[in-house]
Amino acid sequence: MATVTEHYEKHLGWYYSWLFGDFNEIVEANRRFFTVQNLIPGKSKIAIDLGCGPGFQSIALAQLGFSVYAFDLSRTLLDELINNSGSLHITPIKDDILTFSSHCPENAELSVCMGDTLTHLDSFEKVKNLFADVYHSLETGGKFVLTFRDLVFELKGIDRFIQVKSDSETIFTCFLEYEAEHVRVNDMIYMRSKDGWKLDVSCYRKLRIPMEWVRRELLELGFTICLYENNKGMITVIAGK
Ligand SMILES: C[S@@+](CC[C@H](N)C(=O)[O-])C[C@H]1O[C@@H](n2cnc3c(N)ncnc32)[C@H](O)[C@@H]1O
Repeated sequence: MATVTEHYEKHLGWYYSWLFGDFNEIVEANRRFFTVQNLIPGKSKIAIDLGCGPGFQSIALAQLGFSVYAFDLSRTLLDELINNSGSLHITPIKDDILTFSSHCPENAELSVCMGDTLTHLDSFEKVKNLFADVYHSLETGGKFVLTFRDLVFELKGIDRFIQVKSDSETIFTCFLEYEAEHVRVNDMIYMRSKDGWKLDVSCYRKLRIPMEWVRRELLELGFTICLYENNKGMITVIAGK
């Protein structure tokens, strides 16, 4: 089984943006989300993007006027972010999100960990450590935004085969295997070549994080919960310090 870094470097990183479609539309949707939730720069104007990928949130936040520290382990995706960020105030950092506090000032106004990055951490202990570090890094009134998949709900039988996206050149399918605390995600990508279709398979683990557990851990640290919802399996939590 691949580590998360191997999975993104050798496999998913090359297809990640293609999976989402129009880059600018996704950035625009994120900008709308932050604006509707009133997550706009007010005090320090420092935002931290934990698991930034190609920059859907980092670019939206920088366009809104934040100075963004953007963390990811994937060189491929950080390079995409750099290519897309022009003169915006974004500092890309290739390191584990668990080390973010050693790279950033201690008065962030906003931290985001969005698009299911949280489930890539391999243990509940690491998630707890991340939450605690985020709490300490935020200024008073600062916000923490989490979006992640509800992997506690278990798909059964053939429902575990998911066609993620396809076009005339590429077919991306995924097969899920449930374990007690994790899901094994088997990504299968068929690519058309001059010799016919070629299959590239890679597998990694995601953590099955209950939303109620997240709420409890955040409250225990001293956060208040501003938004807590599960919209068709995508969980959004906004917590305030
Ligand atoms: C599902 S993508 C989400 C990217 C982006 N936030 C979005 O909404 O599209 C998860 C990202 O987190 C990165 N990642 C996973 N675990 C990480 C870790 N421990 N430290 C840094 N980056 C990590 C992956 O390389 C990947 O770019």
